[in-house]
Amino acid sequence: MKVVLGADHGGYELKDVVRDYLEQEKYEVIDVGTYSADSVDYPDYAIKVGQTILDGKADLGIMICGSGVGACVAINKMPGIRAGLCHDTFSAHQGREDDNTNVLCLGARVIGHQLALEIVRTFLNAKFSGAERHVRRLAKVHDLEVKYAGQS
Ligand code: RB5
Repeated sequence: MKVVLGADHGGYELKDVVRDYLEQEKYEVIDVGTYSADSVDYPDYAIKVGQTILDGKADLGIMICGSGVGACVAINKMPGIRAGLCHDTFSAHQGREDDNTNVLCLGARVIGHQLALEIVRTFLNAKFSGAERHVRRLAKVHDLEVKYAGQS
């Protein structure tokens, strides 16, 4: 499985921890930055993560900022991206199973490294159930993307 990782300055340290873990677990990892504590803007990295998935170059993504909130707000603006901000393992697997999330957002200033890795592991190992009710609900989510495209 290919996983794309991105972070702003608030998340880059945790991103490196996640990258080391994923490489150790033999995932194919694409790290789109940032690579230092220098201040950057999280939407610039959210776009890189989302675009990598939309281009079919990665199956799933992980986007990290200080709280995880900005990253999640930004990346969910991209049609076809379904991101969940998860700081517990229940949300991480249920998001995949029910909502077919393709991006996990994390707040590096909210949780510790070990919990983050457990959440990452849970997210990557879960699968969309394909249950009819979830497919129906996701079709409605897709309708929202179409209906409100280009409006603000
Ligand atoms: C950056 O200081 C911080 O605002 C960002 O990492 C994130 O927490 C935004 O939601």
